[in-house]
Amino acid sequence: MTDYRDEAIAPETSIEEFRKIVESRRSVRRFTDEPVPDAVVEDCLDLAMLAPNSSNLQPWEFYVVRDDAVKAKLAEACLGQNAATTAQVLIPIIARPDTWKQNSLRNLEYWPEETMPKIIKNYYSKIALFHYNPGPLGSLGLAKKALGLVVGLKQAIPRGPYGINEMKTWAVKSTALAAENMMLAFRAHGYDTCPMEGFDERRVRKILDLPSDAIVTMILGVGKRAEDGIYHRRYRFPREEFIHYIS
Ligand SMILES: Cc1cc2nc3c(=O)[nH]c(=O)nc-3n(C[C@H](O)[C@H](O)[C@H](O)COP(=O)(O)O)c2cc1C
Repeated sequence: MTDYRDEAIAPETSIEEFRKIVESRRSVRRFTDEPVPDAVVEDCLDLAMLAPNSSNLQPWEFYVVRDDAVKAKLAEACLGQNAATTAQVLIPIIARPDTWKQNSLRNLEYWPEETMPKIIKNYYSKIALFHYNPGPLGSLGLAKKALGLVVGLKQAIPRGPYGINEMKTWAVKSTALAAENMMLAFRAHGYDTCPMEGFDERRVRKILDLPSDAIVTMILGVGKRAEDGIYHRRYRFPREEFIHYIS
């Protein structure tokens, strides 16, 4: 992986190439029989893991399912959607709201510079361990919320994530960014994807033997788009209804 900080220069990039990738990514519901090379899948996973993520706690996991029997079970859990039954590879993308502690400590271990600034050491060894900890049954989250209400009267403070539910949202945010990186990476390689949330999460959890805290954020169907793989022209609502300028 190129470390652009070491090179101290940003590489030349092309908005036209980026636009082609973004604009040609569609949710593809039918795939051809053409397999997706392992090297492509691996590269897309690596690029997914470069997504920005909260405090670099990387609260995600990716399962690469090529095994026909497991794929068939997953496709059934995806309610038999074409995007799942015809996919060459299925990639369940999992958010882990429960790995903040181990990953906080891993940041101390994986810090890439010779010396670790005090502020970083303090953050991953103390602050993050307190900030992200919901406590038993979310009790610490509630206490932090109550404290925040008082302290927050006088100054700006981070409002959460408090409690178990907010930690779920917290993990899903970063994981969804990884999912988008992955979809764009497949497109850049000339392959297609369909993100799916239409599935029976309980069944998926069972098939993959996931812990109960794990959140199946999306399952990606991956392959080459079939001729009838895109169901309709793309459209979005008028931009002025969604974009607000404050100047
Ligand atoms: C979180 C999420 C869940 C989705 N779930 C499904 C799904 O279960 N089945 C499906 O066919 N498409 C699914 N889609 C695809 C959307 O329908 C699609 O992104 C949207 O209609 C816009 O079309 P486009 O992706 O081609 O631009 C999902 C997309 C997202 C982001």
